[in-house]
Amino acid sequence: ILELDGTSTGIKIQPTMYGIFFEDINFAADGGIYAELIKNRSFEFDEPLTGWKQQNTKTLSHNLDSGFLTIYSDDAKTNKNYARITINNDQNYVLENEGFRGIGLHQNSRYDFSFDLENVSGNISALNASLIDEKGAVISTVPVLIKGKGWQKYTAVFSPSKTVEKAQLKITFTGKGVVNMDMISLFPQDTWKGRKGGLRKDLVQKLHDLKPGFLRFPGGCIVEGRTLAERYQWKKTLGNVADREYLINKWSSGFAHRLTPDYYQSFGLGFYEYFQLSEDLGAEPVPILSCGMACQFNTGELVHLEELNPYVQDALDLIEFANGGSATKWGKIRTEMGHPKPFNLKFIGVGNEQWGEDYIERYKIFEKAIHAKYPDIKIISGSGPSPDGEFFDYGWKELKKLNAQIVDEHYYNSPEWFTKNAGRYDDYDRSGPKVFAGEYAAQSVGVVKPDNKNNWQTALSEAAFMTGLERNADVVTMTSYAPLFAHADGWQWTPDLIWFNNLQSYATPNYYVQKLFSNNKGTDLIRIYENGKPVKGQNQLFASAVQDTGNEETIIKIVNTNSREKLIEISPKNIKPGKNLTKITLTASQLSAENNFQTENIKPAEERSALKKGKISVVIPGNSFIVLKLK
Ligand code: AHR
Repeated sequence: ILELDGTSTGIKIQPTMYGIFFEDINFAADGGIYAELIKNRSFEFDEPLTGWKQQNTKTLSHNLDSGFLTIYSDDAKTNKNYARITINNDQNYVLENEGFRGIGLHQNSRYDFSFDLENVSGNISALNASLIDEKGAVISTVPVLIKGKGWQKYTAVFSPSKTVEKAQLKITFTGKGVVNMDMISLFPQDTWKGRKGGLRKDLVQKLHDLKPGFLRFPGGCIVEGRTLAERYQWKKTLGNVADREYLINKWSSGFAHRLTPDYYQSFGLGFYEYFQLSEDLGAEPVPILSCGMACQFNTGELVHLEELNPYVQDALDLIEFANGGSATKWGKIRTEMGHPKPFNLKFIGVGNEQWGEDYIERYKIFEKAIHAKYPDIKIISGSGPSPDGEFFDYGWKELKKLNAQIVDEHYYNSPEWFTKNAGRYDDYDRSGPKVFAGEYAAQSVGVVKPDNKNNWQTALSEAAFMTGLERNADVVTMTSYAPLFAHADGWQWTPDLIWFNNLQSYATPNYYVQKLFSNNKGTDLIRIYENGKPVKGQNQLFASAVQDTGNEETIIKIVNTNSREKLIEISPKNIKPGKNLTKITLTASQLSAENNFQTENIKPAEERSALKKGKISVVIPGNSFIVLKLK
């Protein structure tokens, strides 16, 4: 028998309780949510022809090749490179782009094709752009006339005659001569909110369905960079997308088994777009900035304390970018980009996953400067990657002394660790900093193992653990699973919350666990007990309960990690249970079961019934997660 006590605990479930961690890992941004379909559209990769192929070009010789492409650079620009294309043999020179693991196209959808071209010499009068399927058959073609001299933007629209997962773009030219080309781009018209050059709709929809309380961006380790020079610099991600400077993605070197050298950040999804996405999702924006320490798993390079000022200034300027009036320097840039209204930033993260004295020294400087100018901004500080380790303890001890506001904890661990740690926060100091469980995920094999699965066992253990997060909502105020996205053909890290390919995406069981918690977070914590004690693993049962005052609903979450079904009786007191019971069940036939592109077998099933007075009897299937809503 579980006793449900509706007496007020005085503990609010923060609107930020369940959020999203976004990092450009596993092709989450370029090749993923950022809907650009052309890889290396402006020849900016270190190897500028990455993604491009020139048919009938072998020798780069005027006499022997049908044509050839060389890279020119304009050092005065941030987007330096462009292609100079020399056509010797009319119609025979073909330039192809392979997309990000192919180009995904939907039959009869419309795609905006555009490029910048300068007609340099000769008589090139047109080009023909085609989309071709895996066998080379043309599925859409558009002729584009070349007019006049000087750089000009050209546009056309494709409408493919069939759906293809791995198409390519093919360009042929009419005439002979020399042209310069840059920013060769292809976007679906059907993006999230129909924005030109916007985000992939199916992927954003999945985020929207989570009803996230916050969006943390842009990572993760890419905040820090392998070296300081390769850290994420938000100021370089603003303005015209064609002028944003490319950066090799930290995850291009991944881990030994997943080298991805063709992984770059175009920053088409930059800080403005992250803020805009947060707004679209109704989520608090939570930017995390470099604290002057490169990733400690790479070089661990440090900025000297005397040289930290530009990093601190980046944080101050970011707050002005988000919240400043249009007359301020950075508020003006936001306004010019199309958002005069401030984004109302409330949180900022200093460093991603850093630890030790080096971190604390730098954190102190940031904290002083940020709070001197913006006392209301809440600062998130890091505690390192290992929740059971020495670094972690050191960080917490120091951060407590410094009255840090929110500490970001990361844990990737076994399903057993998650179920065992459902009581993790029960004894946390109630007067200390709040906790942001900023990255966590159960690992079916081991941390950063390539064969980790998003199976039901991992999701169930996370659900059990999350009842502990919720029971401790007075300490834990923000939580997010990580990583968020993974491209089936381009990932570096597994498990991940949402998997996608060029055409489709599917939600993992872990996603549905997140969704059930987030969509049913309520507003006020109440207590659910067994024999007077919190339900945190006795007989392999885990539970938490909340009230949603706006909705006048009581919501109970119960996780059964035993393989046998349990009949539970819930005895409510100090509560008006209402008349209706909604029972949402998430379970699977086996612990090893997974969802995939073909089927989402593991997804919530909802049933409604009338509530009788007195005790509530519910059957909790073996290995299941149940949400009960009383109204
Ligand atoms: O989520 C993947 C990585 O794990 C993040 O980039 C990093 O913060 C953590 O080590």
